[in-house]
Amino acid sequence: MSNNSGGVWDAKSRQVYRRLLGYSARYWPIGLIAIVGMLIDGGGLALFNQMLKILVDKLFRDKDAYWIFWMPIWIIGIFYVRALGTFASDYGISYIGRHVVQVMQRDVFSAYLKLPAAYFGNEPSGQQVSRVTYTSEQVASASSDALKIAVTDGFTVIAMFAVMLYNNAYLTLSLLIMVPAIALVATVVSRRYRRISRRIQGTMGSVAGTVEESVGAHREVRIYGGQAHESARFGAVTQQTRRLNLKIAATNAASGSTVQIIASTAMAALVYLGTRPQVINQISPGIFLTVLIAMGTMLASLKRLTTVQSNIQRGLSAAEDIFEVIDLPAEVDTGTSVLTRTRGDLRFEDVRLTYPRNNFEALRGLDLHCAPGTVTALVGRSGSGKSSLVSLLPRFVAPTQGRIVLDGNDYQNYTLASLRKQIAWVGQNVMLFDDTVGNNIAYGELAGASEADIVAAAEAANAMEFIARMPQGLHTPIGQSGNTLSGGQRQRIAIARAILKNAPILVLDEATSALDTESERLIQQALQRLMKDRTTLVIAHRLSTIEHANLIAVLDQGRIVERGTHAELIALGGHYAALHRMQFNDSPGQVRG
Ligand SMILES: Nc1ncnc2c1ncn2[C@@H]1O[C@H](COP(=O)(O)OP(=O)(O)OP(=O)(O)O)[C@@H](O)[C@H]1O
Ligand SMILES: [Mg+2]
Repeated sequence: MSNNSGGVWDAKSRQVYRRLLGYSARYWPIGLIAIVGMLIDGGGLALFNQMLKILVDKLFRDKDAYWIFWMPIWIIGIFYVRALGTFASDYGISYIGRHVVQVMQRDVFSAYLKLPAAYFGNEPSGQQVSRVTYTSEQVASASSDALKIAVTDGFTVIAMFAVMLYNNAYLTLSLLIMVPAIALVATVVSRRYRRISRRIQGTMGSVAGTVEESVGAHREVRIYGGQAHESARFGAVTQQTRRLNLKIAATNAASGSTVQIIASTAMAALVYLGTRPQVINQISPGIFLTVLIAMGTMLASLKRLTTVQSNIQRGLSAAEDIFEVIDLPAEVDTGTSVLTRTRGDLRFEDVRLTYPRNNFEALRGLDLHCAPGTVTALVGRSGSGKSSLVSLLPRFVAPTQGRIVLDGNDYQNYTLASLRKQIAWVGQNVMLFDDTVGNNIAYGELAGASEADIVAAAEAANAMEFIARMPQGLHTPIGQSGNTLSGGQRQRIAIARAILKNAPILVLDEATSALDTESERLIQQALQRLMKDRTTLVIAHRLSTIEHANLIAVLDQGRIVERGTHAELIALGGHYAALHRMQFNDSPGQVRG
């Protein structure tokens, strides 16, 4: 992570900085205009400052008629031009900043779309959200602030120094006290900054995550009385954020006050130098005032300049976090051959799977052949590895050992995209999008489907029955993650989506678990027609739904312990027969109606 030992500008920072510049490089013409605006801004101030000498000496001491006429016009002129400069610099910087934010957000988001499934389990989703909403904003605001201060105030300091030197080199000596001391303050401040910024980003993620979880689980919170627990948790993360932000505020405030103290000393030195008996008669009031005010202006700029480092640090640590995610390797796709349409001859050969996160071996040497056009049912206790086995198919996870052979080829040889095109999937947790019913069925690559096809799929999934009753039919919006629908309705939409995809491999993981027996029977009939020319893998706890499967495999602790047809397994009198007895004799309540 951040490296504080090697000073502020270590190699890593320089690298991040250069990459960040790359993001704004294409907006260089606007950047140039903005910088010219900043120079006009600072220059206008310097020019006005120089006019002060004339104001005091020529207008009020000498009563010079020429200047009495021209001075108001000059003032208006200077500030009108300066206003243009300020506008160009402010708007130009924001223009670049907003574009950079958008590009960063897009890059992070597209990284999320291509990262491997394992990544999402490892990082809290709050962090992932706040990286897009908060961290990328930080990059732009911090770096545009930094640029603006560095150029405008940097130039102002130089211009004021020139004003002072031009008017009276002797008085300028007072700066010798101020400048080194302020430089020291700036270095000390920026050291503290970077680490704190990093930690703030982390806590912003925790805040987002906590809110997301508590809002998402609002029912559980109410029923189980989790309010106190949730507020305590939220209190703790916001307290942490506040503490870190206050640390930064304290650093800024302390540096501000220190600069002020240093400045007053320098100011006193200026007055002391200007009032020595040898010089007091040689310096006109106008010159003295001009130098004094130039010094005051320089001071304000120097004070802002001490925060430049901290802004840069804030931007850099935000950018670093973003680049780390953008640079993460995408899903491995070593496959080269493109699978057009598989025959659906699927073979699992001694497949083992260990989840890296907890080193848990979910599949322990499993052989299974699913012949084209057949239905293979996976049954077994909860946690026996059924979902793990089917999640290997679209290569969400790769087998730790053994291989999966599709049409006689190791499935790793196929490109990910073409492999996934072969699979229609109804998962254990149905995910829907904030869109219309129709667009949820014809999702992604199915988006071009005709309305007739969508209706046919919805009919096969027994979904048309409730869709037709919705106010706008297929065009009814279903709210975020389909929260206006019942569990069974959501499942039927997912089934319709799978039917519409019309892929040669069909995976149904507890696809009808939330349905009543009547709807389930209707869908079974539709699926039966569908299953004829494809390879189907069905996972079901309700054994009545899989009795007709060509092959039933019983899983236990990551192994297949029994296999055969329904009749064979009943005759065998083992695990399956026992399960079946339990469901049909002892506890008929198991079959929901
Ligand atoms: N992403 C994961 N990381 C670590 N362990 C996991 C992960 N997913 C599943 N497991 C573990 O692997 C085992 C098998 O899980 P799996 O989801 O395959 O079971 P299942 O047979 O589908 O169960 P159910 O019938 O309840 O859906 C479980 O013990 C589970 O704890
Ligand atoms: Mg499962």
